[in-house]
Amino acid sequence: MSYISISKAAMSAGSNALIRGWIHRKRESGGIIFIILRDVTGLIQVAVKRDLVAEKSWKSACDATVESSVEVEGIVRGDKRSPTGYELGATSFRNIEISDPFPITEYQSAELLLDKRHLWLRSQRMMAAMKARSYIFRYARDFLDRRGFFEITPPILTKVGGETGSNLFETDFFGSKAYLTESSQLYSEAMVFSLEKVYSFAPSFRAEQSRTTKHLAEYWHLEPEMAYYDNQKSMLLQERLVSHIADRFAKDHGDILKEFGVGKDNLLKIRPPFKKISYESALQMLNEKGFGLKWGDDFGVEHERTLTEFEEKPLFIYNWPKEIKPFYMPINPKDERTVLCADMQAPMGHGEIIGGSERIWKFDELMERMKEVESARGIKFNMHNYQWWIDLRRYGSVPHAGFGMGIERVIKWMLNLDHIRDAIPFPRMSNRLEP
Ligand code: 4AD
Ligand code: MG
Repeated sequence: MSYISISKAAMSAGSNALIRGWIHRKRESGGIIFIILRDVTGLIQVAVKRDLVAEKSWKSACDATVESSVEVEGIVRGDKRSPTGYELGATSFRNIEISDPFPITEYQSAELLLDKRHLWLRSQRMMAAMKARSYIFRYARDFLDRRGFFEITPPILTKVGGETGSNLFETDFFGSKAYLTESSQLYSEAMVFSLEKVYSFAPSFRAEQSRTTKHLAEYWHLEPEMAYYDNQKSMLLQERLVSHIADRFAKDHGDILKEFGVGKDNLLKIRPPFKKISYESALQMLNEKGFGLKWGDDFGVEHERTLTEFEEKPLFIYNWPKEIKPFYMPINPKDERTVLCADMQAPMGHGEIIGGSERIWKFDELMERMKEVESARGIKFNMHNYQWWIDLRRYGSVPHAGFGMGIERVIKWMLNLDHIRDAIPFPRMSNRLEP
């Protein structure tokens, strides 16, 4: 007989089934052992009755502990008393491997669950989150693949910073200094001059001390880059991408959303167009609410929350002051205090999920802007390390734009998680590198 999944077994009441999985819960009552068995597809109650199985099966069921791996053959029946609605009446029971006493019991601190992350990943909650993660990766790729994008694979070890440059993890590379990439953008840019529309989906690293509920030291970064796109066209692509992910997820996996207490409708509402406001008007809105921000101030968690807590859809904030954005963004010809860029904020205060911009594509303009940034910020670019990237502006350059989406931020928002750490299996944060 071949194994069937628990969800299939639950659909075949009356028939004989062979299933395997892990023991989620176990209790004994008057010659019957009740086990809730888990596999990737779901849970089912198994009843092992002393008088209905061979002595060997009964003994195995007695010995089995929580999280033991087991296989059971039996007859499926609908049973209203079973917490799963179905019960497998065992005819035979075998342990694959008996588990040591499981270190996670019902009420545990968040710290312990992080220490035991390798085991906590078996919880219903983490299983649902990890499935969501995989689907969201898939939907994002599907969307871009169908629009003629090529997935590219950037290097992780690099000599250049793409963003602030100040949050880089440094490492030794055969005796010289290297960094873990903070963004693959510069490499994606190189590839639009051949493949035109590309994306990388890779880890980015940020040595940020900030211990917030939305910062990871290592996160997965989806970075599309498009030849001939401007900031407007890029925003249209972004809102379609985010809507596509929300729509597919809500339509196909309402069950996962339910696990997190999120209604499908929240995500089905995410349809283009999204609201688009300038930095200047966002600043004004915040100051009307009493924040007292000055032109040029960046927005923090509180500001982001205030701007989006009553929004149902994500919100774009475009044309930020040049002082607080990276060196590769072009000055806005209509207002030279700003650059041609936009950030996408998730609704309900979840914060920034996308940062994107046009790129300076002309050699002279880039050299001038890099000099300006050096003197305004009191920094010195190592021009030798950036030479290859600057070079791209010398050989048939074209206008281009791109953006970066933090996939864990998207998961946090869509599942309405309190903390970003549950959007990634093994979170790396300033205070955590294990397991
Ligand atoms: O806004 P950022 O820094 O932009 C860039 O890195 C650009 N080079 C992207 C590009 O244009 N190709 O980061 C982009 C996104 C943010 O909007 C956020 O969603 C996510 O990356 N992000 C983080 N996610 C988790 N933990 C962190 N520490 C993050 N820092 C940024
Ligand atoms: Mg940003």
